[in-house]
Amino acid sequence: MLQTDPPPSRRDPEQRWPWWPLLPLYPYGRRRTLVRELVPEQVWSFEQLQGVFYVAVPIRMTVVRLRQGLLLYAPLPATGELLAALRELEQRFGPVCSVVLPTASGLEHKLPTPALARAFPAATVWVSPGQWSFPLRLPASWLGFPPARTRVLFEQGLPHSEELAWRGLGPLNLGLGTFMEVACLHRATGTLLVTDALVGIAAEPPALFEADPTPLLFHARDRGDQPLSDSPESRRRGWQRLVLFASYLRPARLQVPGWGEVLAQALAPGLRNRRSYFGLYPFRWRDDWQDEFRTLVPGEQPVPQVAPVLERLVFPRCRSALVAWIRDLSTLEEVRWLVPAHYEAPLACSPAALSALADGLEHRAWAPDAGSWSTLARIDQTLLRFGLVPRQPQG
Ligand SMILES: [Fe+2]
Repeated sequence: MLQTDPPPSRRDPEQRWPWWPLLPLYPYGRRRTLVRELVPEQVWSFEQLQGVFYVAVPIRMTVVRLRQGLLLYAPLPATGELLAALRELEQRFGPVCSVVLPTASGLEHKLPTPALARAFPAATVWVSPGQWSFPLRLPASWLGFPPARTRVLFEQGLPHSEELAWRGLGPLNLGLGTFMEVACLHRATGTLLVTDALVGIAAEPPALFEADPTPLLFHARDRGDQPLSDSPESRRRGWQRLVLFASYLRPARLQVPGWGEVLAQALAPGLRNRRSYFGLYPFRWRDDWQDEFRTLVPGEQPVPQVAPVLERLVFPRCRSALVAWIRDLSTLEEVRWLVPAHYEAPLACSPAALSALADGLEHRAWAPDAGSWSTLARIDQTLLRFGLVPRQPQG
């Protein structure tokens, strides 16, 4: 196949995005990659932290070993550390042969794809149907996808179909664009890869924070003039609060003090530095804040669930499509593990567990407006009022 890609740059691809420094995206261009072997010599999890300010949660690319080589599902920014780890796997198990962007709307997965594709010029790039860009609808090649070797899943075939099963959720009309996600089952190991629709959240912080627990320690405090002190309990408290931020944007048990109080507590000794945001801490948690986390994450072990942001902003009026997709996944008899692109993995899973999850989602209250959900509900209702999202996304 004739390759028309530009030569890969020697600079870190993250540094080539000119707008990158303008956004408060933690960890500010110093991202580390944690590599974990999920199934011995078959499936690997590559994890980085991604978020805004100190609200950062793990984002994952999964690597699957196939007969032809390695498949990368849900790309991550191609940092030097990530590429070095992939080169090591290539030496042991064969070349990267497929790069899969399994979502039409997940920018955090879409933006890193072109740079990762350039790093593996012999790989075929497979993308979910329904790709779009905002504010301008640009062709994929203008967004950096290599035109000579980019294929659309389902529309132009399915890669490695003798070893993998593919199942699409969508397309759903989000108004500004399309939601679509493509799940992939590696039959030999029973590993089911999903992107955003399902996650599993643990009560303890993920291992990624061991290198730098600062975000956890920042959120573990009760006042801006408290120092960032490290202990297992601080890390756990900070993680659970961070999860509430990431899940509900503004948790119900969180109060925002006035700027007078915030500024009075700022710049305390030991906190006059960027790491502590100079003591600026505009949060006051109610004493019962942990009840809110326990409602979201009832057990110590993570189980598959729908992230509240997705439930209230993507699926509020199309629960049936999500439930039908999970029921479709439950017909895949080999499923043993679920590996989402965020939070914990792998999660123990089975066809019966997926079927029970679909039943539970079908019969419980859906995308409520009150309590923890009120900020998400306000955003959705505002978008509806201005006609930016449709009332019938499946129509
Ligand atoms: Fe995502």
